[in-house]
Amino acid sequence: MKFFIDTANLDQIAEAQQLGCLDGVTTNPSLMAKEGIKGNQNVINHYKAICDIVTGDVSAEVISVDYQGIINEGKALVEIHPQIVVKVPMIEQGVRALRYFSDHGIRTNCTLVFSVGQALLAAKAGATYVSPFIGRLDDISTDGLGLIEEIREVYDNYGFQTEILAASIRHTMHIVNCAKIGADVITSPLSAIKGLLKHPLTDIGLEKFLSDHRKSQ
Ligand code: E4P
Repeated sequence: MKFFIDTANLDQIAEAQQLGCLDGVTTNPSLMAKEGIKGNQNVINHYKAICDIVTGDVSAEVISVDYQGIINEGKALVEIHPQIVVKVPMIEQGVRALRYFSDHGIRTNCTLVFSVGQALLAAKAGATYVSPFIGRLDDISTDGLGLIEEIREVYDNYGFQTEILAASIRHTMHIVNCAKIGADVITSPLSAIKGLLKHPLTDIGLEKFLSDHRKSQ
């Protein structure tokens, strides 16, 4: 399973990269705004800075919601760096654009996916990644992980190559459970990734090893 970090914060991206387990980055307009990135040139520079830190895919989201606007923005985004993947919303004009990008060798991440039907449509249109938002589904008492399972089943039924990118991860157990049910990728805050490190028996065991070592000196 690939690990992406879901942030536009350069320090967190660098920390995740240094951990040695990072496969890519996802951003969105809210995450870019949180870092205070505004203005076309600053946005371009920020994506370049992210691509300089990581070696994997970096999802950059379009703002347009009309077909031609999405196409124009997507083409401009992929010019920034070869690692850029165009993030396209699950709307009718977005699906049309996914097909265009796929036919022209441009990699995509279909975002804001909340149902199996939407995931099926994204795969049919040739999306590279599909992003079901599991945390936002959980927030409204709907089974986010269940959606990942259903998409896995449908994609496996027909051999779709679109990768299931579990998004809107809220905590460490989301990552563990996504791995158990066969998500191809998770995109997560750094805190949830670092949560995978933790076990009290590891801390107790290490302390004992170190104290025994000190006693034997
Ligand atoms: C996915 O690519 C999105 O950027 C992200 O996972 C959304 O997460 P949120 O629901 O925490 O905003």
